[in-house]
Amino acid sequence: MPGRKSPPPPGTRVARPSVRLRRFRRTAALREWIAESDIELRRLVYPMFVRPGRGSPDPVPSMPGVNRYSVGDAATLARSLWEEGVRSVLLFGAARSKDPEGSEAWDVDGIVPEAVRAIRRTVPELVIVTDVCLCAYTSHGHCGVVRNGAVANDATCERLARVAVTHAAAGADLVAPSAMMDGQVAAVRSALDGAGREETAILAYASKHASAFYGPFREAEQSAPAFGDRRGYQLDFRNGREALRAMDRDAREGADILMVKPALTGLDLLARARRRFDVPLAAYQVSGEYAMMKAAAERGVIEERAAVEETLAAVRRAGADLIVTYYARDVARWQRGRR
Ligand code: PBG
Repeated sequence: MPGRKSPPPPGTRVARPSVRLRRFRRTAALREWIAESDIELRRLVYPMFVRPGRGSPDPVPSMPGVNRYSVGDAATLARSLWEEGVRSVLLFGAARSKDPEGSEAWDVDGIVPEAVRAIRRTVPELVIVTDVCLCAYTSHGHCGVVRNGAVANDATCERLARVAVTHAAAGADLVAPSAMMDGQVAAVRSALDGAGREETAILAYASKHASAFYGPFREAEQSAPAFGDRRGYQLDFRNGREALRAMDRDAREGADILMVKPALTGLDLLARARRRFDVPLAAYQVSGEYAMMKAAAERGVIEERAAVEETLAAVRRAGADLIVTYYARDVARWQRGRR
């Protein structure tokens, strides 16, 4: 009986590999040289929460490093981001007072239009995207107006269109309808065109699944639904073909960019969409993805930077051109350190 430590018996022949992929893994320089994807700062979008009132930024407890800012602080932060190399922001607002219709969402002096104007004044070149939804403005927390116990599709589209025009008039480069109403992209496009805002582009939250990973965001936005959940309008996470139909529909309704959300659970959809559409694709690494990595890093069970770079590279590899991520600032810092 051969012992554990004995060499392979003479005469044991194994086929010699003809493909030796390890040749390019041998040195760091070779690995860098043939790497297929990069996380370029210019592709990252930093989400920002803007709230009424003055005073110092209030932290979002479940998302260490993420704060809700006054308009003034948002503009200051936007300037720092620009100087750090971040090229775009996605703005979320909060209501001064909520009502069942979410009417503050289309107030021309609401928090988002104010923030857009202040940021535009401070950093004229920054790409400004605004989230277009009602959930932070409705007293019940749903993404649209409620009729007979359900979110009414077409009435909500009309309101989303008004919100989008308000944001465009304030100077947003893109508006991003996120309520998952049927026809919301068409409604926003025609309203923008009707208001002479043909130049404003639409980033469509096209494939947006009902997800447990939005929890921390709802804490930040105080936008959790007071009754029921969002499964009546957001996609069922078991469905991929339906997500592609939603993307196809939004592209035909005039979306300039199609977004998949959450990123981590939608990598297959990004890969499929990449083959199917020639419009730019975005992915949203959502609040729960951020919070999960933060929490694990704080407990010392993962190395934060490595984990974040790995997830962002996977999103790029799957096919996203743009990535919305709360880690954009950290990536900027890490990449500065590298050079
Ligand atoms: C608004 C909206 C949500 C997110 C982006 N836009 C919340 C939701 O749909 O419940 C989630 C973003 C995140 O979790 O980071 N409807």
